Amino acid sequence: PRVGVIVVAAGSGSRLGQPEPKAFVDLQGRPILEHALLPVFGLSVAAQVVVVAPVAQLGEARAMALEVAGVAAGYVTVVAGGATRQASVAAGIAVLEPGIRVVLVHDAARAFTPTHLFETVIAAVEASGSGVIPGLPVADTIKRAVDGIAVATVDRSELVAVQTPQGFPRQPLADAYATAIAEHTDDAALYAAAGHPVIVVPGDPLAFKITTPWDLRRAEALASAAPD
Ligand code: CTP
Ligand code: MG
Repeated sequence: PRVGVIVVAAGSGSRLGQPEPKAFVDLQGRPILEHALLPVFGLSVAAQVVVVAPVAQLGEARAMALEVAGVAAGYVTVVAGGATRQASVAAGIAVLEPGIRVVLVHDAARAFTPTHLFETVIAAVEASGSGVIPGLPVADTIKRAVDGIAVATVDRSELVAVQTPQGFPRQPLADAYATAIAEHTDDAALYAAAGHPVIVVPGDPLAFKITTPWDLRRAEALASAAPD
């Protein structure tokens, strides 16, 4: 395949506060990771899907990915993650097949991300040759606060709330990861630190990240409303 999708699912989910790692928490009868993989395997383009899972859940993740993949099963790869998200992404990059030209990195915790957002990001990487991130306008007024004092109101028109999947041309991404020294907040920051351009495409509210128990309640409402 020409496209690789790395789904990082190796985090513990400390803010969610459930006993199992976040991607394996049940959401209306199926784990969060399974919800997240459904739209990925809905892609019309052939893709290698790399699931990065905790060591203790490798078998569970493999079974889940193969079940969701169906006939596309040959393109599923499952690897163990690392101590940080960045280390988990690096583990995913390490197992990409040789022919892959475009790499998407996606949080399993964004379980309702629609297939069209993956397609938009792939198309934008191919058209631009740049890194591509989905972003949404920020709804709240944002202020800079120092020691409890509001010192400035940030110009909201310049801000975007960034989501995944984030897409990149394969070789510059692999090189940026191979030479990264610092820990970066997202893949695009690591990519930009290596000197590469990153463009923003419209995100989707459904690509929100399940982070807190409140997010899980919203996700439960969405999962119970889903027609599948
Ligand atoms: N992730 C990962 N490996 C890590 C840390 C995070 O693969 N060492 C993944 C998570 O599984 C998640 C995504 O990165 O799908 C986004 O991270 P986040 O929402 O922060 O998940 P956790 O790190 O698991 O949650 P928390 O920060 O609350 O512990
Ligand atoms: Mg985290």
